[in-house]
Amino acid sequence: MEEPRGRQTKDGIRIYEPADFVGMHKAGRLAADILDRVAALVEPGVTTEVLDDFIRDAVEAAGAVSATIGYRGYQHASCISVNHVVCHGIPGPKVLKDGDILNIDVTVIVDGWYGDTSRMYVAGMLSRKAERLIRVTHDALMLGIEAVRPGNTFGDIGHAIQAYVEAQRMSVVRDFCGHGLGRVFHAPPNVLHYGRPGSREVLEEGMFFTIEPMVNLGRPETKVLADDWTAVTRDKSLSAQFEHSIGVTADGCEIFTLSPAGKFHPTWG
Ligand code: MF3
Ligand code: CO
Ligand code: CO
Repeated sequence: MEEPRGRQTKDGIRIYEPADFVGMHKAGRLAADILDRVAALVEPGVTTEVLDDFIRDAVEAAGAVSATIGYRGYQHASCISVNHVVCHGIPGPKVLKDGDILNIDVTVIVDGWYGDTSRMYVAGMLSRKAERLIRVTHDALMLGIEAVRPGNTFGDIGHAIQAYVEAQRMSVVRDFCGHGLGRVFHAPPNVLHYGRPGSREVLEEGMFFTIEPMVNLGRPETKVLADDWTAVTRDKSLSAQFEHSIGVTADGCEIFTLSPAGKFHPTWG
């Protein structure tokens, strides 16, 4: 529920106050810290539900609330998307094997503020082609973030991501996008990871949103499995994703979900 306080743009994008950055930072930091700590558990032989159990317990131990448990009937504290799963993978009895790559996506609520972040992990040995996919996806997110400043547009963000990814002969998923967030999980605008420079809404100081590009080694098309959540690449090619929650500042942006331990990328420690 949106509270009546606060300004919105004509496109229905909420403009938050300087003091609100503090709340988002706290929520984002907790989500990132949980992703830091789950890293030690990711290895061949572990099931994705063991990883989710750890995350659920960590959210609870921090006195926070999982945004995903109960969200549209979803029952887990994370989404865990392995190999050709693009996003919204449901934790379960699946056992990780050597060389599997996975995205873990966590959203927490702290004092009413939402922190949403995801990153890639590897079980065992990272293959060269998976390493390249993960590096390109991470760099694409950071290039999108570099395009964030007042006066630029959401199309500039999408273009920066798409141009880079396609130059690497990989593809950007079109079927899922980033989103506004703050006091709510999913709010306007849709943050597309492709687009034309100068198109779409103009960025303003005080906007909070995610950027969360999904990149495939093969074609961009996806399909959702019969469980109504799991999205996979139609051509079964490997897929990767990274997500940050950010707030637009006077001259750029603040990333709310930076890794406290500096472990955002799987090859960083
Ligand atoms: N965290 C995801 C996002 O980035 C949304 C997950 S919704 C769930 O927007 F219900 F699948 F968990
Ligand atoms: Co998100
Ligand atoms: Co997310």
